[in-house]
Amino acid sequence: MKERRLIFSALPYANGPLHLGHMAGAYVPYDAFRRFNILMDREVISVSGSDEHGTPITVRAMKENKTPEEIAKYYHKINKEIFEKMYIEFSTYIETSWEIHKETVFNFIKRLMENGYIYKGKMVQPYCEHDKMFLPDRYITGKCPRCGYEKARGDQCENCGATLEPSELIDPVCIICKNPPVFKETDHLFFKLSALQKEMESYINSNEHWRENVIFFSKNFISSGLKDRPITRDLEWGVDAPFPEMKGKKIYVWFEALIGYLTGTRVTLNSFKDAENWWSDPEVKQYYFMGKDNIPFHSIIWPAMLIAHGNYQLPYFIAANEYLNFQGSKFSKSANVGFFMPELLDKYDPEYLRFGIYYNLPEGHDSDFSIEEFENKVNTELIDKYGNFINRALILLFKNGPVSFDESLFNEIDIEAMKIARQKHNSFIENMEKVRIRDAFREWMELARYANVYITNRKPWDACKTRGPNCSASLYTLGFLSYILAMDAQVFLPKSSEKVLNWMGFTTPLRINTDPQIPVFKVVTKPEKLYEKIQSKEAIPLDLVVAEIINAKPHPNADKLYVLDLNIGNENRTIVSGIRDSYTETELVGRKIVIIRNLKPANIRSITSNGMLLATEYEGKTYLLTPPEKSKPGDKVTLDDLEIINQEISIEEFKKFSLQTQREGNQTIAVLYHKGRKIPLKVNDENIVVDDKVPEGLKIK
Ligand code: 2FM
Ligand code: ZN
Repeated sequence: MKERRLIFSALPYANGPLHLGHMAGAYVPYDAFRRFNILMDREVISVSGSDEHGTPITVRAMKENKTPEEIAKYYHKINKEIFEKMYIEFSTYIETSWEIHKETVFNFIKRLMENGYIYKGKMVQPYCEHDKMFLPDRYITGKCPRCGYEKARGDQCENCGATLEPSELIDPVCIICKNPPVFKETDHLFFKLSALQKEMESYINSNEHWRENVIFFSKNFISSGLKDRPITRDLEWGVDAPFPEMKGKKIYVWFEALIGYLTGTRVTLNSFKDAENWWSDPEVKQYYFMGKDNIPFHSIIWPAMLIAHGNYQLPYFIAANEYLNFQGSKFSKSANVGFFMPELLDKYDPEYLRFGIYYNLPEGHDSDFSIEEFENKVNTELIDKYGNFINRALILLFKNGPVSFDESLFNEIDIEAMKIARQKHNSFIENMEKVRIRDAFREWMELARYANVYITNRKPWDACKTRGPNCSASLYTLGFLSYILAMDAQVFLPKSSEKVLNWMGFTTPLRINTDPQIPVFKVVTKPEKLYEKIQSKEAIPLDLVVAEIINAKPHPNADKLYVLDLNIGNENRTIVSGIRDSYTETELVGRKIVIIRNLKPANIRSITSNGMLLATEYEGKTYLLTPPEKSKPGDKVTLDDLEIINQEISIEEFKKFSLQTQREGNQTIAVLYHKGRKIPLKVNDENIVVDDKVPEGLKIK
């Protein structure tokens, strides 16, 4: 019987599109490991899905004025498409709102109850007198008691990773109305985690093969003593707590989403009994991929739930990655930092993105990402090294092949190359087996670099001026190097490796050969160019200038609008602007502002607006961007080294630019997030500012 493996990746919340940080943290390494195991001829079930419940979804729904269901369905679809485009596959990608998941959760919890691990208790919960509701985890924010981070949530501190109870937050406030909550008693179900202290200690101590970060975090977590945890919440959206006396309460999202791994196995096999067979078999190893903020849930809570259940095996490996940083700060959906996959996929080939992530995998420690470096590495490493070698080697083989194996013909350079190819291949396999994806990728990349050195030293085109033994030996070696490279590349670059292997006459997917002895190499199809280089464009259509307001009068047909006459240097313009609630006419006349000049003119209530001023909104009031005191009308806003072109753009196109407020020292300045960089808006080398009151992270529009 084939070896069987369960390979999981954390179920992302369906509350926004996935970004590069998610890809690097969990899904791209997951996919390499999944592909590797399949290519090693193992039977693999791989599961993830949309985590559709809990406060991440309801908070988002509240902000967007939608129902939680609408949010979940919308982002489920988007994220599923992202995975498809990235060639990241799953046996089953569940949704936690599925009935079958609810049933799996119900049975799991029932079993825990029968085993005495769930009890009903009372707890004190934050309650907002203003909004008349109990405030579950993400509805409350405050200072982290561990690290002092100001914006910790009620469930976890994003900064130090500590899992928290709402009552632990310092100076907590309700996120809806910003009032401090009161604390009231309410009924909840509890998981008796405290009873599992010993079992958890021995479980964690027995897993010496885990990554350091996971061991460290987990030991730290249990060293202070495991406490019972409430597993229900006062929420309207989620899986019902399955007991009459808990009517109206929902299962805590984490407690329920983790069971999704089981749901997904069950759906894949179309049988609960078969799923239980996989889960209870000690020979079936379970692997979990996730970002580091998910560690405690997978190394403590989930194994404890499984022990309490009694029938299943525990996680064998927890592949938690560190963070992919973006100029020093963590990628995060809520902070709107970084790159979202839909826009990246519009611009780049998915294999380039995969390559960029493997190249810079935050495995073991954080890594930093920038678009410039990404484009550069794709061009100089993937294309110049791997792509270029493959093209040169396969064209020579196509013209002069086929060639058979004959060791007696090899010269020293060939012997060395064959040896290095085998070594790198073995070490690729060894690293993949140990889930060291970053190292496995490095070995592969080094072999690609080495293959170029081989070709330079061996000069096969000279050797093949006449077809003889010397030519055959060098062609065979080229074939062998290409074969190893493309075979191993299947886990990282599934599409292009398939092309290469097919050109070489192999059927794909090609099993990973642990002891390759290939009698003949032939190239059956004329190879094409494998990749096109990325041409980086650095010009952007964001023509911002300083304008002076020379006249402000109310719009004749609209209560909230002004008609403003502006001086923008060698030209006067009229714009219409909705700032009448925030500024009086006298406050405006003579004031310097910033406008976008290349915006398509728009007719606003029968007056043509020729441009738009830039401002941000805070607590219901508009705040204008203020250019430096010394600036003059018509002065251009510069954006670091970007070339600014004044090609006309629509308001939709303008909205795609991520202009935001940012705190710097005791000022609030305006910045543009562009291709992984945070670029301050400047006039004559001085920052453009917004009123000091305005916090950072607000959109400028
Ligand atoms: O961090 C997250 O996005 C969580 N939704 C991960 C859940 S993993 C598990 F519970 F399935
Ligand atoms: Zn409130």
